[in-house]
Amino acid sequence: MLSSIPQNNARDIIKSGVIGFPISHSLSPTIHNYYLKQLKINGTYEKFEIPIENFEQSINDLIHNKKLNGFNVTIPHKERMMSLCHHLSKTAQQIGAVNTIKILSNGKIFGHNSDGDGFINNLKNQIINYNFSKIKCLVIGAGGASRAIIHALINRGVSAIYITNRTTCKISKIIDDFAPISSSKNIELHTVQYSQHYNFLDQIDLIINTTSLGMINQESLLLDISNAKKSAIFYDIVYKPLFTNFLLNAKQHNFRIVTGLGMLIEQALVGFELWFNDKPKYSLELEKILLNKL
Ligand code: ATR
Repeated sequence: MLSSIPQNNARDIIKSGVIGFPISHSLSPTIHNYYLKQLKINGTYEKFEIPIENFEQSINDLIHNKKLNGFNVTIPHKERMMSLCHHLSKTAQQIGAVNTIKILSNGKIFGHNSDGDGFINNLKNQIINYNFSKIKCLVIGAGGASRAIIHALINRGVSAIYITNRTTCKISKIIDDFAPISSSKNIELHTVQYSQHYNFLDQIDLIINTTSLGMINQESLLLDISNAKKSAIFYDIVYKPLFTNFLLNAKQHNFRIVTGLGMLIEQALVGFELWFNDKPKYSLELEKILLNKL
């Protein structure tokens, strides 16, 4: 679907960036500037700290005065930015948030969400030939990232998704919103009471932390995994630190783990291709550079 988007008129410098508030911590410029240099593309990627006040005016300025070709959107604007989009990908529409914007040649704003692709591609990079069909997943968390991940798992045709969250009403909203697509694919979506022990863990193939628990300066996600399936994979989307207590615990019990840094890189590559018409390869060198910045 993304390939059918009209391309911009050729410009000498292709300008892009990331908007958020605050934005100083963002690693996105490191990722995009690494690939711009590597591919010798005449482009820029900058941080723009955009407050909620006068949001629409600030976006107009980025498009019409700063002449950005596209940009990433991060906290707290992922939902707000949706209302300014003239066109939305089906993925962004269904998730209800955008993180990647492309300015079309006619000046209209196209919005997409690349978190789900980032999540899936990272898993596929780290677990070769991973087969999504028939797997049962436990998703911890029901925020924006969780919605993108659940959407991606539904599209991959998993068999069932169990969702747990501190605030249960957010799960009901996810299940209601995704019921049309999950039921058309015969995928079960279940609400699970938030806990540290899940007695059905012996049936779960993929356990994903989508909450901010485990992040630097946050509480840990402490899960009793003594009854988990031997083949289960533990995936944390937190990347700072790279090895959260959730993953360290799984590693100690000899489970396979997937860290979150690759998702950050993979979701960025979707925007890069959209703006610069080039799809770079996943880079282990870049991973190292980012790890040094964490
Ligand atoms: P993102 O866009 O990164 O997903 P978010 O939408 O703010 O961010 O979602 C954050 C997730 O982390 C939510 O599932 C949140 O749980 P609530 O919906 O109950 O707020 C979860 N989370 C954050 N802090 C938490 C904590 N201390 N304990 C449990 N869950 C927490």
